[in-house]
Amino acid sequence: MSGTRGVLVSLQRCVFVISGQGQGLFRSKRMSTESAVKRCLRTYSSAMYRSAYSRGESVSVLGSVNRAAKMSTVSGKETGLLFRQLLDYKSYTYTYLLADPVSRIAVLIDPVIDMVDRDVALVRDLGLDLKYAVNTHVHADHITGTGEIKKRVAGCKSLISKVSTAKADVHISEGDVIKFGPYQLDCYSTPGHTDGCMSLVLRSEGLVFTGDAVLIRGCGRTDFQQGDAGKLYDSVHTKILSLPRFFKLYPAHDYTGQTSSTVGEELQHNQRLTRTRDEFIKIMHNLNLPYPKQIDKALPANMVCGVFDASQ
Ligand SMILES: [Fe+2]
Repeated sequence: MSGTRGVLVSLQRCVFVISGQGQGLFRSKRMSTESAVKRCLRTYSSAMYRSAYSRGESVSVLGSVNRAAKMSTVSGKETGLLFRQLLDYKSYTYTYLLADPVSRIAVLIDPVIDMVDRDVALVRDLGLDLKYAVNTHVHADHITGTGEIKKRVAGCKSLISKVSTAKADVHISEGDVIKFGPYQLDCYSTPGHTDGCMSLVLRSEGLVFTGDAVLIRGCGRTDFQQGDAGKLYDSVHTKILSLPRFFKLYPAHDYTGQTSSTVGEELQHNQRLTRTRDEFIKIMHNLNLPYPKQIDKALPANMVCGVFDASQ
């Protein structure tokens, strides 16, 4: 039996696997959570479940397996969060599409102007109702697609933090929520790369979208746009790396081909953020990075949803 044809549900120490064809109710009683998960994994040979299992300890395994199961399909239909990670291969920016499969309400995080055709086509192909296009911050390396998307998708609103002072339909602040169907993104203020940086936490699924605050094994630079290394260290440690270790971390960029990490992984392996605060500040002050190529066009355009005519 294929693992992707079933649903795996956990309840305390009992684990049930219900087959997609309805013939195999499997129940494990009076066994530890880890044993129950192991037994399910033996029963279901899906690589997805096995890779979830291999990622960590029993509690996080169970969380991962549950999320993997919820995102799987039954009879070819989406049964959980619809989630796509999309790449702009020029600026190495990740755009995230999140949607509720029932109401079809969707949210786009950090769209790029050059990729708007792709994003709008995908939204239409999937029959989604794109309500929100959110920028995690005022980007310096590419022009946002939010303004262009608004022109093409009726009813879509642009969002950015109030602190950024950039133009948008909705300004978000710490503690605000972005709702789509039964899901909600919690808005966390995580300044340091810029004053207006927000991280978005999808707590029910164990996901955090960090913008440039935390990158995989790194972080955003702090040498322009109100950058402040001490502030970044504090906000990352109090707001992002204090989330449960199994939370999956999705950054706004990756330059090495990686797509995601976890809070636990970054607490252990992030070359900058595992240092002391003083060491971190010293590292950030001595990076000597080149001036971003797009910054002179991108910053003024991104203050107005990317619709500024950069040629003028
Ligand atoms: Fe940035």
